[in-house]
Parts: sequence; C-alpha cells; structure tokens
Amino acid sequence: MSFFSTLETLPEDPILGIPILFAADPRTTKVNLGIGTYRDANGKPFVLKTIRKAEALLTQKELNKEYLPIEGSPDFIRETIKLLFGNSTGFLQNGTVFGAQTVGGTSALRIGADFLSQHICRNIFISQPTWPNHHPVFSRSGLAVHSYRYYNPDTHQLDFDSICSDIKKMPSGSAILLHLCCHNPTGADPTLEQWKEISELIAKQKILPFFDAAPILK
Ligand SMILES: Cc1ncc(COP(=O)(O)O)c(C=O)c1O
Repeated sequence: MSFFSTLETLPEDPILGIPILFAADPRTTKVNLGIGTYRDANGKPFVLKTIRKAEALLTQKELNKEYLPIEGSPDFIRETIKLLFGNSTGFLQNGTVFGAQTVGGTSALRIGADFLSQHICRNIFISQPTWPNHHPVFSRSGLAVHSYRYYNPDTHQLDFDSICSDIKKMPSGSAILLHLCCHNPTGADPTLEQWKEISELIAKQKILPFFDAAPILK
C-alpha cells in the first residue's frame, strides 16, 4: 500500500477556481470579478508602468543572487516599516518594531498565526465576513477561530455598533484580526473616528490587534 493511498482530493479552491471557470465560460459578455487584479480594456492582464520600470532598474543592477539574511532583505524591511509606521516616528531607531519578509500575504499570515499560537494566545476573532482563507490559515496554526460581527448586508454598511459590542465580549488575552483598509470582501472600512474608538476598546479589553495589510502592500 502506498504511503499516499489514504489521501483524499480536496475540493477546488473557491477563490482561485474562479479564473478557471471564467476561462471555460463561452459567453462573450462575461466579466471576471473574482480576483482584484488590473486588466486592460480587452480583459488582458495590465502591468503598471511603474512595475515595468522597477523591473528594468533591478535587471540593470545585476544583483548577485546571494542568500538573504533569514528575516529577508534589510532594505525592503526598512522601507516597508517606513511605509506602515511613517518615517519620523523613531520606531526604526528605538527598536520597538521588528520586520520580516515573506513570499506573500498568505505566508505572512501563516507565519504570524504560528507565532501567535506558539507564543501569544489561544483565540483569534475574525470579522464576519472575511477573506475565506483566514479561517483555515489560523485554525491550521492551532488557534481557536471565532467571529465578530462586522457588516450589515441590508444597509450595505459597516455594522459599527456590533463591532464594538462584540469586542467588549472578547476574553482578554485574545487576538483580533483587522483589515487595514479595503476590507475583503465588503470594501467597508471604519472612519478615522471609528478606528480611534475601536483602538480604545481593544486597549481596554486587553486584546491584541493583528492587522492584515494585504491591499496596501501589493
Ligand atoms: C485580505 C487578504 N489577505 C491576504 C491575501 C493574500 O495575499 P497574497 O495573494 O499575497 O498571498 C489577500 C489576497 O487577496 C487578501 O485579500
């Protein structure tokens, strides 16, 4: 008997399966709303000029392809910290921020989830709804995954009162996952004033904010 004979084939990934279904759909009036990537007027992938320019600059530099330090490229990490926390905050100098580079958003989440699970907490609260991969990523890391209310589908708006009342019920020592901006899938983000209130509640409740910043770092 093969070591692998007991394995079952998993169902198609619900998000990444959409482009395959889209390509197979014969209708000429189809529009792909599955994955948020740039397309030109003919529906073909569109690469921004800035990306082309950066690629050309990198090629010209003839980098040496040596191994990076284990936490990633120091330049990339420093510039990302500046982008997220601002340049003038002193964070870079006083050592209160640590950065590490990953191969993308999903692996950053998994490494963060493993870190939480191994060292920080047992529970994480995730918005309902959320990017569907959040659930498997955090539960595979061994965390108990719970939901908090986030969105009112009737008004198509953020359900701010429910967010606040659910945070007040979270056990201290838990983590809460927040989308930094462009909440996926609702597109509804708190206002600056609402963020301040959320931040005060989180501090009062002694829970750890864990931000998924995928849309701004792409
Ligand atoms: C909220 C959110 N987090 C993480 C990711 C995953 O990022 P990546 O494609 O870089 O793995 C996505 C991708 O759509 C996302 O929307």
